[in-house]
Amino acid sequence: MEPVHAGVVVQTQRLTKDYGAVLALDALDLEIGPGITGLVGANGAGKSTLLKILLGLVPATGGRAQVLGHDIATQGPAIRAAVGYLPEHDCLPPDVSASDFVVHMAMMSGLPKVAARERAAEVLRHVGLAEERYRPMGGYSTGMKQKAKLAQALAHDPRLVLLDEPTNGLDPAARDEMLGLVQRIGHDFGIAVIVTSHLLGELERVSDHVVVLDGGHLLRASRTDEFLDATGVLLVEVLGDDATARMAQALAAAGVATTPRGALLTVDATAGHPDGHEVHDSHDIHDIHDVIRDTASDLGVGLVRLQVDHRRIEDVFSDE
Ligand SMILES: Nc1ncnc2c1ncn2[C@@H]1O[C@H](COP(=O)(O)OP(=O)(O)O)[C@@H](O)[C@H]1O
Ligand SMILES: [Mg+2]
Repeated sequence: MEPVHAGVVVQTQRLTKDYGAVLALDALDLEIGPGITGLVGANGAGKSTLLKILLGLVPATGGRAQVLGHDIATQGPAIRAAVGYLPEHDCLPPDVSASDFVVHMAMMSGLPKVAARERAAEVLRHVGLAEERYRPMGGYSTGMKQKAKLAQALAHDPRLVLLDEPTNGLDPAARDEMLGLVQRIGHDFGIAVIVTSHLLGELERVSDHVVVLDGGHLLRASRTDEFLDATGVLLVEVLGDDATARMAQALAAAGVATTPRGALLTVDATAGHPDGHEVHDSHDIHDIHDVIRDTASDLGVGLVRLQVDHRRIEDVFSDE
């Protein structure tokens, strides 16, 4: 077997899954490193199939793949010992408490009972299920079920977790909480994370890298910040009574047109310039920065935000 260089978490070579009627993965070449990787694609793109193949739960029909240096075809048990998995669909026994379930999963992965109990209490606390952990999971909300699924994925102290649509079906608050947990797992605990979503924009906040699948093909793979090109729009936020209106008025007098966006003002730096001519380079954006700063200072209002607006991943794609 060829050596796998450090830092590679998942590699695939022409990985293929032919279900007969559907080619779910089509000679996919992929390399995923540490940190948090968002795997995005429409329903049917092949995300869940890829995760199941990487775990060795479903055999590929062509090509090869390695997870943490282990070959999927021959080293399934070693992979599952080092990888946690949050499956897409409900898999929780309704009559069992989250505590018993996670203890059971930890023991299945080889921990002795006392250690499994300690570990279960710890991961359930991490995901925010400490209070409810002795209640049967059948009575849990979708958000609590997703947390229990996440806790069992972490029970055996994995080096990599595969999270299949952990935010699916959650309301905005629960979704935010889940994304916060994903971020902590990846950035604070140092566990490599591959997280899927059918919503392109959802993962941009937490992912270091984004991989886009389409019909079993790789559409794009890059660092998240490379998706987020600057738009040439500046966001301005000022603090104080009437400050926003006074700021807009004073900026207009200085030749800088603003557009309100919620409590913010936006300045399209590509549309015009204090002197009225086209903006051609970042130099002109700096001039506008200075005008905004000076205006806020002249008015005596607090400038709480002056930053470049980045395009959302979703906008990048809707342009194409
Ligand atoms: N067990 C299966 N048998 C036949 N076709 C399947 C099976 N599982 C998935 N598929 C098909 O493979 C394609 C990819 O599915 P899936 O991996 O679930 O995509 P995603 O998770 O991105 O929504 C879809 O067209 C789906 O219908
Ligand atoms: Mg899926």
